[in-house]
Amino acid sequence: MYSRIIGTGSYLPSRIVDNHELERMVDTSDEWIRTRTGIVQRHIAAEGEFTSDLAEAAARRAIDAAGIDPNEIDLIVVATTTPDLVFPSTATLVQHRLGIRGCPAFDIQAVCAGFMYALDIVDKYIRTGAAHNVLVIGAETFSRIIDWTDRNTCVLFGDGAGAMVIRADEEHGILSSHIHADGAYKELLWVPVGVSNGGAELEAGRAFTRMKGNEVFRWAVNAMSDIALDALKHNNMSVDEVDWVVPHQANVRIIHAIGKRLGVSPDKLVITVCDHGNTSAASVPLAFDVAVRDGRFKPGDVILLEGFGGGFTWGSVLLRY
Ligand code: UT7
Repeated sequence: MYSRIIGTGSYLPSRIVDNHELERMVDTSDEWIRTRTGIVQRHIAAEGEFTSDLAEAAARRAIDAAGIDPNEIDLIVVATTTPDLVFPSTATLVQHRLGIRGCPAFDIQAVCAGFMYALDIVDKYIRTGAAHNVLVIGAETFSRIIDWTDRNTCVLFGDGAGAMVIRADEEHGILSSHIHADGAYKELLWVPVGVSNGGAELEAGRAFTRMKGNEVFRWAVNAMSDIALDALKHNNMSVDEVDWVVPHQANVRIIHAIGKRLGVSPDKLVITVCDHGNTSAASVPLAFDVAVRDGRFKPGDVILLEGFGGGFTWGSVLLRY
């Protein structure tokens, strides 16, 4: 059994913040942001708009595209670092809004690699026959853990959600998935405040992302290049057999560096970071949905997905669409 994507959807909050708006908030420039990251704009959730709202909207679009009844879904997995609540999980909030009862629903947290982790888990459920129609969502309101006075991070991130409906299928689907983590690097990319150690910082609303950008950059390029080669080797495939690469959307320079290392021509790279910024766990399913809807992906295409995030965590999924 393969895990086949039968419908995708995405959602972006309506408010767009362009680089010029950021120029008025911190010491930065449109030129710096464009040349160092490729980012032109990002979407930011409205006050009172939460991760579950973004997730639900993306899920409804994916369910519509799949043409199934929500009650056919027998597993819901949400990858997020910015859940609405400590508990219950965002997955159960979305489940309830969709009018689904009883099926398992849970969140997973692997920051920007979260969607790779979610697909890896879902694929194992499907291959063992434990699930048949799965709703997988990557959703974030990352703007809520950004210090809007810190130019090192605030220009990079955005909010959004992407979703897939995945069905057990005898022919096409996920060929392999590989996920990894190494907790030795936590201080290169983290929010040094949490629930258990939160205290005054949490109460003061200072749970913000901190990053040593250039070190993360190097790691991201190396890890995502290596893992792509691992995926190809595992499937006995050459890079020429890959039709599309959908990498984590953090920085256009990271994406092009990976493409160069792999020897993938730039027109096979799906790039949305310019319009969305880095939406963490939502970035890959969002980019995937964009390419589905603009007609780039054709049935049978071989597509490589990749993620890299805090932890560090990283992973890849190779699939036949
Ligand atoms: O999603 C998880 C994965 N995240 C990532 O993959 C992000 C990885 N990192 C990056 O994308 C890049 O490292 C950044 C975009 C964050 C930074 O680009 P960089 O080319 O690595 O620049 P840098 O950090 O080496 O900084 C160069 C200069 C510094 O000034 P000095 O020390 O040379 O005077 C920074 O202070 O750029 C300065 N700088 C800025 N200048 C204007 C940093 N941020 C800004 C800014 N506007 N927003």
